[in-house]
Amino acid sequence: MPRTQVAILGAGPAGLLLAHLLHLRGIDSVVLERHTRPYVEARIRAGVLEQGSVDLLTKVGLADRLHRERLVHHGLELLFDGVGHHLPLTELAGRELTIYGQHELVKDLVAARLETGRPLLFDTPAVGIDGLDTDSPVVRYVHNGQTVELHCDVVAGCDGFHGASRPAARGLTTYEHVYPYAWLGVLAEVAPSSEELIYASHDRGFALHSMRSPTLTRLYLQVAPDEQVSAWPDERVWSELATRLDRTTGFALTEGPIVDKAVAALRSFVVEPMRYRRLFLAGDAAHIVPATGAKGLNLAVVDVAVLASALGRWFADGDPAGLESYSDTCLSRVWRVQHFSWWMTSMLHRAPDADPFTRRLQLSQLRYLTSSAAAATSFAENYVGLPFPDWSFQ
Ligand code: APR
Ligand code: PHB
Repeated sequence: MPRTQVAILGAGPAGLLLAHLLHLRGIDSVVLERHTRPYVEARIRAGVLEQGSVDLLTKVGLADRLHRERLVHHGLELLFDGVGHHLPLTELAGRELTIYGQHELVKDLVAARLETGRPLLFDTPAVGIDGLDTDSPVVRYVHNGQTVELHCDVVAGCDGFHGASRPAARGLTTYEHVYPYAWLGVLAEVAPSSEELIYASHDRGFALHSMRSPTLTRLYLQVAPDEQVSAWPDERVWSELATRLDRTTGFALTEGPIVDKAVAALRSFVVEPMRYRRLFLAGDAAHIVPATGAKGLNLAVVDVAVLASALGRWFADGDPAGLESYSDTCLSRVWRVQHFSWWMTSMLHRAPDADPFTRRLQLSQLRYLTSSAAAATSFAENYVGLPFPDWSFQ
């Protein structure tokens, strides 16, 4: 009867990093992933890593290619009223930012997992979890058309917002805020038009200029929450981006072939606690933040660093303290990041029913942020990421 110490649902950043951190501690796990490997490794998602995330990945031997290929940033630009304002983030908050596509990180994590020879089952959806109130939960999954039972000591729900783990929990409280707009994201095979990220708050709506490499630009436009990609042919995308990213001193947005285009909803979501008996939720399975603050991946890294440290103590000497405090430890950071992401989103986006008063408040906030060292420092320490607590390296 197949058995493991930790059954991990999901081979996204959370599940794969957790598997690696457990392996380093000699803890056995099985990773179950609904989709195929090519699908998971091609999924274009976030691209900004906090220094704490990079330090952890480096410490545990997962950052060799990241250090070769990443872009390091020390600031960003806020664009409003036709004027761009540079915020020197590293000067203000002492930490740097890394631009490295999440799908690239997932490729690195998958390769590291396969190198261990330990189970990583693709195209294998978990379809149910039983016995969470016993000391031997059972995860049911489908592999090659057969339903299989995996007995384990602990289940790690790293299967994202739409996964099977959270529904298996009882007595959870959810907190949710859905934004009246979405993001149209495009990936273009063209050199970035700016060395820095540009967050633009325009009367027509928000726009973001980001990048993945010296030859790949990542761009976003605020659109209606039910927007269809088909309503945005390339010509319209480039025209709207040029408008929202323009400034009184002129801005040349370089166009190029768009190789990925998708609409993503913006949502704030938290579940409390992030645990139900032998089930521990991590990453998007437990919380979702609007992409504005570039925090989702970084929150997932902290969750699994806390969980791996707690499981290490529990499996090694039966000390349950880390597991008992897991949810509270993670939620303290989750709510700080939730607030920052909500605040940044509300400041930069044009709500469809926004009245002129609200727009004046937004502009006043942006002018304060770009003229006050205190305000800019507060923004910077949240954006680059609050320091990782020491335990994440244990
Ligand atoms: N069984 C197995 N795997 C599943 C199931 C299931 N029932 N349901 C979902 N999955 C898989 C998904 O296919 C996905 O690969 O779980 C994985 C969850 O990965 P993510 O959604 O990437 O979530 P997470 O690992 O928490 O990463 C968090 O990464 O998704 C980005 O920026 C995004 O903030 C997010 C961050
Ligand atoms: C990205 O590069 O995908 C990105 C950057 C910054 C954000 C969101 C997304 O706030």
